[in-house]
Amino acid sequence: MNQLEQPEETTTSIPTSLDSLGDWNKSHDCNRLSLGNIDEAVTLMGWVQRRRDHGGLIFVDLRDREGITQVVFDPLYDATAHERAHSLRSEFVIAVRGKVRSRPEGMANPKLVTGEIEIIVSELKILNSSKTPPFQIEDDLDVSENVRLRYRYLDLRRQGMFNNLLLRHRAAQLTRQYFSDNGFIEIETPVLTKSTPEGARDYLVPSRVNPGKFYALPQSPQIFKQLLMVAGVEKYFQIVKCFRDEDLRADRQPEFTQIDLEMSFIREELIYELIEGWVARLFRDLLGLELPVPFPRMSYAQVMEQYGTDRPDTRFGLDLIDVTDIAQSSEVRVFLQAIERGGLVKAVRLPDGNRLSRKELDDLIEFVKIFGAQGMAWIKIQADGWQSPIAKFIKEEVRSRLVERLNVGVGDIIFFVADQSKIVHAALGNLRVRLSQQLDLIEPNRYNFMWVTHFPLVEWDHDEKRYTSIHHPFTAPLEADLELLSQEPEKVRSRAYDLVLNGTEIGGGSIRIHRQDIQEQVFSVLGITKEEAQQKFGFLLEALQLGAPPHGGIAFGFDRLIMLLCGCSSIRDVIAFPKTQKATCLLSGAPSEAELNQLLELCVRVETERKS
Ligand code: AMO
Repeated sequence: MNQLEQPEETTTSIPTSLDSLGDWNKSHDCNRLSLGNIDEAVTLMGWVQRRRDHGGLIFVDLRDREGITQVVFDPLYDATAHERAHSLRSEFVIAVRGKVRSRPEGMANPKLVTGEIEIIVSELKILNSSKTPPFQIEDDLDVSENVRLRYRYLDLRRQGMFNNLLLRHRAAQLTRQYFSDNGFIEIETPVLTKSTPEGARDYLVPSRVNPGKFYALPQSPQIFKQLLMVAGVEKYFQIVKCFRDEDLRADRQPEFTQIDLEMSFIREELIYELIEGWVARLFRDLLGLELPVPFPRMSYAQVMEQYGTDRPDTRFGLDLIDVTDIAQSSEVRVFLQAIERGGLVKAVRLPDGNRLSRKELDDLIEFVKIFGAQGMAWIKIQADGWQSPIAKFIKEEVRSRLVERLNVGVGDIIFFVADQSKIVHAALGNLRVRLSQQLDLIEPNRYNFMWVTHFPLVEWDHDEKRYTSIHHPFTAPLEADLELLSQEPEKVRSRAYDLVLNGTEIGGGSIRIHRQDIQEQVFSVLGITKEEAQQKFGFLLEALQLGAPPHGGIAFGFDRLIMLLCGCSSIRDVIAFPKTQKATCLLSGAPSEAELNQLLELCVRVETERKS
């Protein structure tokens, strides 16, 4: 339906009288009744999906959150109800009493669960009227997301959206049950707190009673869950809101929900097993799918090598293959130059890629430039030889080595990027995902999980000119690499792990530092001075000196997980009241200006222009 198209009735007239619910009770949901209920007296309540007048009869599709039942007003059966039914419009809220009967021969609707029956109405209550809604409450809806968000309560009346909320609820229930059964206890951590560094900006809340001071909303409960381990809780979990002021994307929201947990006396493998049990349970109970466990595990170094990203989508091949040694023997200038500068040459073989047109190839070359590549070479393997701008620079002997390494056959195309490894990986890593989408290489309903392990502890931040944590500053370095910490920190591997599903990071965690001396050492690698460490995390450092057990944990993006379980492409579709890309709520109008009085009380003065 067109966005601006209105439902058939356009009047907004309010019926002369509205009825009260009185002592009526709903006897059935609107998806419940079937031929087995014939002649039963029922009371149904819900919204008018559609009203149709046919030869003196009025038909109403009555909708509630479960489904639709057709109700019929017949002047010969009940003249008063029939008379009032004329005033019904889309989204009026009604209650009907009547009898279940089978639909006449040939009138059954196989698309409806209740399609073989209808209710012949003896009494009608009009509980509320409705203005003409801005869009029809239907699943296949072509309405801009802004309109949907502005009228979210109408959007959520749609069956598909309600089903997402229902699945989310059931996943939360299963999660609570699973972790409780495994000895975890749910504990709430504070929302008004101190900054918890997870790499984003904080949302700040001014304190009225402490003028000039601010709480930070938690980016995660990280520090508190570690303190709970020091407190001897041993197994903690929480389904918890987290707040991050960062640039938004389809899988990010400023406030989102984590399934957060922490355990004492634990090592990686036990965490993987526990989580695999939980995820397998969710998929079994919610989707009826048996997931093969254990999930594959690959180190960060391996996934970067093979997929060019730490979030590999393994539902299709197109692995990256290092051909630097072979390229060295070619006469392709860009290859030789990249190698000379300490770079790499990597290739991706696309089976049956010969069908790509010149225009499509040019588009792909433009695409990889987004990731810093200067360009991309390609070779089409054809029955009568190689077709490629670089073919004449590759001699027979080098060709046969490439054929063998890449396992190429007639019809394939090979893509090459030569550059510094970071650029090669970003370019080809994104190329493989783009090809999989463009050429429809992903089988539907496949769920490929992978544990990515041993992330580097830190990376060099060129802008800030200091090392920053890849995970967070509380992640333990791998014991075998501890000696590198002071001299070559970028070579230190950490005990961090992510769980990736179909190319999306759904969870991440680590074994933590439980010794104060190592924590201080990591702070110092990160350029955090002793004073700063004391001021920001003194309470944690102190706790680490008061009997902190070895511990570790993980947190999952609940919204992302539900998005994937529901088959949605945006987390906004599984959050009841999400924010827009600009972090606004179109329904309530948040954020909004504060009243002058409030600001005075908070001792906050507002500048409406950013001074940078
Ligand atoms: P991390 O920062 O990796 O780890 O977050 C855990 C998971 O939360 C989800 N996530 C988000 N989902 C929606 N919107 C966002 N803005 C957003 N940011 C993150 C992701 C991510 O995998 N304290 C650590 C966990 C730990 O070490 O135990 C943490 O928060 O799915």
